[in-house]
Amino acid sequence: MSNMQTQLSFANLSRIETELLAVLAADTQTSKAPDAKPLPVLLTTDEAVKAAVAAVLASGEYKAGTNETLLLHAPAGLAAKRLLIVGLGKQAKAAVTGVRNAAGTAVRYAKPRGIRELVFALPLPELLLPGPCVRAAVEGAFVGDYDPDTYRSDRKDQSVQSFTVAAACTSDKADVEAAFAEGVIIGESQTFTRSMVNEPGNKLTPTMMGQRAAAMAAEVGLKCEVSSTEKIKELKMGAFWSVAQGSEEPPALIVLRYEPVCVTEGPVLGLVGKGITFDSGGISLKPGTDMEKMKYDMAGGAAMLGAMRAIALLKPRVRVICVVCASENMPDGKAQKPGDLQTAMSGKTIEIINTDAEGRLVLADGLTYAKQLGATHLIDAATLTGACVVALGMINAGAFSNDDVTYAKFDGALATSGEKFWRLPLGDEYAEMIKSDIGDIKNTGGRWGGASTAAEFLKVFAEDTPWIHLDIAGVAWVEDSRPYIAKGPSGIAVRSILEWVRSY
Ligand code: BES
Ligand code: MN
Ligand code: ZN
Repeated sequence: MSNMQTQLSFANLSRIETELLAVLAADTQTSKAPDAKPLPVLLTTDEAVKAAVAAVLASGEYKAGTNETLLLHAPAGLAAKRLLIVGLGKQAKAAVTGVRNAAGTAVRYAKPRGIRELVFALPLPELLLPGPCVRAAVEGAFVGDYDPDTYRSDRKDQSVQSFTVAAACTSDKADVEAAFAEGVIIGESQTFTRSMVNEPGNKLTPTMMGQRAAAMAAEVGLKCEVSSTEKIKELKMGAFWSVAQGSEEPPALIVLRYEPVCVTEGPVLGLVGKGITFDSGGISLKPGTDMEKMKYDMAGGAAMLGAMRAIALLKPRVRVICVVCASENMPDGKAQKPGDLQTAMSGKTIEIINTDAEGRLVLADGLTYAKQLGATHLIDAATLTGACVVALGMINAGAFSNDDVTYAKFDGALATSGEKFWRLPLGDEYAEMIKSDIGDIKNTGGRWGGASTAAEFLKVFAEDTPWIHLDIAGVAWVEDSRPYIAKGPSGIAVRSILEWVRSY
């Protein structure tokens, strides 16, 4: 997974011996005085660090733009061998998210240059609170450290071996230490999810996804049950099975339980994930272009597993169950056909219009099962619709909910996680679009409003249970690398789901 060692230091920046010391800078230009061209400021009180960069800052060559970097070797007066300045962008807009990305940027600066160890200095505590910053910095370091080149035979492991956060010694040490420890757990859990999402379909079949979930559960102390065809049939999961029936690979029904000993009442949170390890479209076969991307169609399920890992280690006082429905979606003599009629576990009948709308089928039974296992509140995550990508691009993921109170908690979670979700509408008019002539509902609602009709489909199975649906189709895979994250699996939703759970 990740072998990066992490430390927290309260030492004086200029005395820290390291291969690379990363310090933040901000652009102080404001829109009120657009003609003034003030120099960027370093976000540290350390006089030696300031002196070391004074000349280059005075030159005006460096603007401290977002994730803009500047490297100095052998900085005068410092024990560090190199000093890296990372830009936070406009000071007035400085935010914890920027610190997360800056830490990732510093790590990704170090990696290709053979630098295996670095120290990242938090910004001034007056500007941003040290607790949230230290956590974000560690998360960002894990995000930056991950590269997807697992299967290169000449792979040179460039990962950072040691990442240290340097915090001001004036800040409340215990709080900062706790936030640091959280950051490590969250960062590692997001990496767990990303390495799973990165796996090709032949390296991560539904069975193997179940095995990985079970191994993780054993490691962190979660109850885990993985079953397959027999159990799926026994539970009458007709919607899940309708997808699985078309593949030689057996499906996996993965159930994880987090049950803190002292919590016997209150809500039970149900996390449900789409685990399509490869989506060919089935008989409604997808075009060949980009079909290889559909190995990441299990990103929702992997996000739930990563969140469960973090939950097990952070131990919130709330019960959580997780259901991941893992299957391939393949064309086959035994595959379901457009026009087929399926009966879901809930008893609702589904007319199959397009076998490529398979995610909502597996989730339908996953939601019903989570409720049967006792979930009082539901959240699902899925790479569900291309329509969501059309609506929001690869910037925001879509979010839907049948309950404003439950959604408000998720919205609060986003402030901490720093992930971008945008709420999209449900509504009776969308529900109307998925009515079937021969049964209860059909599995597609036509060309328009596809993200909302898919969400309405899931809502039929959430019923009256407060529920949130996350459509992460556009953001589960980073198409172009950024300074702080490699091209490849993003690990989106792990942090937000975790924070939502912790809000109970
Ligand atoms: N897995 C896809 C959705 C998807 C699209 C994920 C792009 C990631 C990137 C899903 O199973 C699918 O095929 N959805 C169809 C639904 C349609 C047939 C109603 C779609 O969006 O085209
Ligand atoms: Mn599909
Ligand atoms: Zn799919």
